[in-house]
Amino acid sequence: MNVSNLFDLKNNLVVITGGAGLLGKQHTEALIEANAEVVILDICKTALSDLKEYFFLEYQKEILTLEVDITKEEQILKAKELIFDKYNKYPNILINNAAIDPKFEKNSKVNKSRLENFELNQWNLEISVGLSGAMLCSKIFGIEMAKNSRGVILNIASDLGVIAPDQRLYKQDGLSDEEQNVKPVTYSVIKHGIIGLTKYIATYWADKGVRCNAFAPGGVFNNHPDEFLEKVTNLIPMKRMANVGEYKSSILFLCSDASSYMNGATLNMDGGRSVW
Ligand SMILES: NC(=O)c1ccc[n+]([C@@H]2O[C@H](COP(=O)([O-])OP(=O)(O)OC[C@H]3O[C@@H](n4cnc5c(N)ncnc54)[C@H](O)[C@@H]3O)[C@@H](O)[C@H]2O)c1
Repeated sequence: MNVSNLFDLKNNLVVITGGAGLLGKQHTEALIEANAEVVILDICKTALSDLKEYFFLEYQKEILTLEVDITKEEQILKAKELIFDKYNKYPNILINNAAIDPKFEKNSKVNKSRLENFELNQWNLEISVGLSGAMLCSKIFGIEMAKNSRGVILNIASDLGVIAPDQRLYKQDGLSDEEQNVKPVTYSVIKHGIIGLTKYIATYWADKGVRCNAFAPGGVFNNHPDEFLEKVTNLIPMKRMANVGEYKSSILFLCSDASSYMNGATLNMDGGRSVW
């Protein structure tokens, strides 16, 4: 077989969680460009309708977008049946991409991003999306993949699923230690945890034809302030952040038969940051 055919996703049905965000749109483009059908689950109604309109205008493609909170099992189950009603089959590819990017109040007396002040309800909220939601979707869609003896589950981790955050990146002049913002503990735990989930599923359903891998991308440039950009690029051997569309080819590789013998692995793509 010609190797380029391995990247073709004709007759593949993909579900992407948190697909209406910055990278979800890129994942969707990659998969549609490879002829897949794509269904987006996201909690944000307006982002979903913008996304639907974008793919209709730019790709002449009617994609199914469903407003779903992936922390709610009954909502995922309902989405699964709506998908079946439309396509007469269940998805054979799942991308666990949803996560919360927490914002902490600036100028607040108590800096809640810091471990000393980190609140349990914030921990529970982020874990419920980034880990519990990924587990629930893997369970609910993975069952059908295993029954069908065909499936791919791709978990979106991060370079910070492989290394610790460098808190010096977030330091601001003129603030005391207690006032400095940090990358929250939840980010590390969720991104390392999703790599654990990947290894678990990769061995659990391997004999049922379901592969599971993780993708660990570095930060994407999204108009970050110059000061942050300079600091972060000093930590990256390639001296730059990723461009927004730069992960599309990896997503396609990981979802398609091009990666048919890859299972339980984490693909790092971070300009070399995690090897320094
Ligand atoms: N952007 C980056 O630089 C970067 C780098 C490394 C890893 N990542 C990871 O890539 C993934 C996508 O990142 P992004 O930059 O597109 O983030 P984003 O915030 O733009 O998108 C995340 C999406 O998840 C959705 N979401 C949140 N809670 C949900 C819930 N309960 N149910 C359903 N959907 C929910 C949001 O509405 C949003 O559309 C995340 O897992 C992120 O951690 C991003």
